[in-house]
Amino acid sequence: MSKNKTQYVCQSCGYQSTKWLGRCVGCEGWNTLVEEKMADSPKVSESSLSSLREDLRSTMQGEGEAVPLSQVSENLEQLRRLDTGISELNRVLGGGLIYDSFVLLGGDPGIGKSTLLLQMAKGLIEKDKEVRVLYLSGEESVSQIKGRAFRLGLKDTDQIYLASETQLEKAFDHVKKVSPDVLVVDSLQTFSSAYLESAPGSVSQLREVASRLMTLAKTAEIAVCLVGHVTKEGSIAGPKVVEHIVDTVLYFEGDEGQSYRLLRAVKNRFGSSRELGVFEMDTEGLREVKNPSALFLTDRKESVSGTAIAASIEGTRPLLVELQALVVDSPLALPRRTSVGMDGSRISLLSAIVERHLRSSLAKKDLFFNVSGGLKLSEPGCDLAACVAIWSSAHQITVPQDWVFLGELGLTGEVKRVSHPEMRLEEAKKLGFKTAIIPAGVYERVKKITGIKLHPIERLSELAHILKKN
Ligand code: TYD
Ligand code: MG
Repeated sequence: MSKNKTQYVCQSCGYQSTKWLGRCVGCEGWNTLVEEKMADSPKVSESSLSSLREDLRSTMQGEGEAVPLSQVSENLEQLRRLDTGISELNRVLGGGLIYDSFVLLGGDPGIGKSTLLLQMAKGLIEKDKEVRVLYLSGEESVSQIKGRAFRLGLKDTDQIYLASETQLEKAFDHVKKVSPDVLVVDSLQTFSSAYLESAPGSVSQLREVASRLMTLAKTAEIAVCLVGHVTKEGSIAGPKVVEHIVDTVLYFEGDEGQSYRLLRAVKNRFGSSRELGVFEMDTEGLREVKNPSALFLTDRKESVSGTAIAASIEGTRPLLVELQALVVDSPLALPRRTSVGMDGSRISLLSAIVERHLRSSLAKKDLFFNVSGGLKLSEPGCDLAACVAIWSSAHQITVPQDWVFLGELGLTGEVKRVSHPEMRLEEAKKLGFKTAIIPAGVYERVKKITGIKLHPIERLSELAHILKKN
C-alpha cells in the first residue's frame, strides 16, 4: 500500500470505501464516512513496539507449532482469575478477571466507567497484596485520578501506578517499566499510535490500539481493561468496531436521571454473555446492589390495572421486573405502538396475540409499553407478563399484586416453556409473591416448590377467566 493512500472509513461500523459515500453501505448510517490515511504496514515493524512484541513472543511456549491437547492442559493455569473485590463485577466477568484477557468496558460518557475501574483497582490490591495495577488515563491528570481514588476510599499504595498518557508506544514503555498484572487503559478514543497518521478516535486508530493491546494481553499475560466511550452521533468511532478483537465486552448502562447502573456482558470468551451486574452510584462511588429485583419492582402500594410482574433470567440470575402498559383510544389512523425496554416489534406481535386470544380490541388504540426501572429485556420468558399488562390495561382489570407470570408465547397463543423455572419461582417466593402463572410444560419440574401457588396454563386464552375470577 502506498504511503499516501487514503480510504473513507465509516466511524460507526468500520466499513471502508475508496470513494466518499453519503450513506454507509455497512450500517446504513448517514454522513459517517471520514477520510483516513491508511497504515503503512512495514512501519510498524520498525517500531520499538515490535521489539517488545518479539521479546514477549519469545517467552511464549510452543509458539508457531501445533501441540497435542494432552500437552496443552498445563496452560489451563493461565485461566487463573483475579478477584476484583466487587462480586457483581466478578460475576459478570464469569468469576473474576482472567490474567491474559482483554476486557472492553463500553458506555456513555459520564456513566461511571472510570469509577468502576478505579474501584476494581482498589478491590484487586485489597484481595491480593502481590497484584500490581497500572492505570493509564488519556483523559485525566495523575493528580485528578488520585483525588478521585481517594474519594473512593483508596489509601496510598505502591501497588497502583498512575500515568497520564495518550500515546500507545509510550504506554508500552510504562508497561515495560512497571510490569503490571492488570493494565487499565482509559480510554480507547484518547489513545493513538504514532505510526498512524489518522486522528485519535478514528476507526484505524481504534483498531490499531485494540489489536496491539490484545497482543500485549496474550503475550505478556496481563489483564487489559480498556474503556470505550459510546458515541451517539458516530462522529468519533465507538467500541463496536473493536468488539470482535477483544475477549470480553461489558457495557455499563443507566438512565441519566437515575442513580443505578447496569453492567452487562455482551460477549465473554470466559463466561456467560448474558450476565448482569447492578450498581448504585452515590457520593462514595459505585455500590453493589445485591437484591436487584427489589429495585426493579416499583413502590407498589395497591393493585392498578396495566401492570404485571415478569420473572426473568439475566445470565445466571433471576430478576423480577414490573411491566407496564397503557392502552388508550387513538386519535390516529395508524395507532401508535411505543415500547421502552422491550423490542417494539415483539410488543406489536404480543399485542396481536392478545387481540386474537384474549379477545381484546386494540385496533383503534394506542399502546404504550414500559419496563420499569429502565431495564432492557430481551428474554422471551417475559412474554406472558407483557400480554397480561396489555390485557389488564385494555380491560381496566387489575392483576393481584402478589401474582407473577412466566412463559413464552407462540403466535397460536400457546404458553411455552421457559428456562430455569425453579430459579424464577424461588426468587418470586423470596420476594413475597403468592401465586405464579406458569407454562403447563414446566409444571412437573417445579411442582415440589412449596410456599407459592402454581397455576399451570397451556394457552393464553385460559388467563382471562382466571384473572377475572380474582
Ligand atoms: P466517570 O467514572 O468519570 O464516568 P466515565 O468514565 O464513564 O465517563 O463518572 C462520572 C460521573 O459519576 C460523574 O457525573 C460524577 C459521578 N460520580 C458520583 O456520583 N460519585 C462518585 O463517587 C464518583 C467518583 C463519581
Ligand atoms: Mg472516564
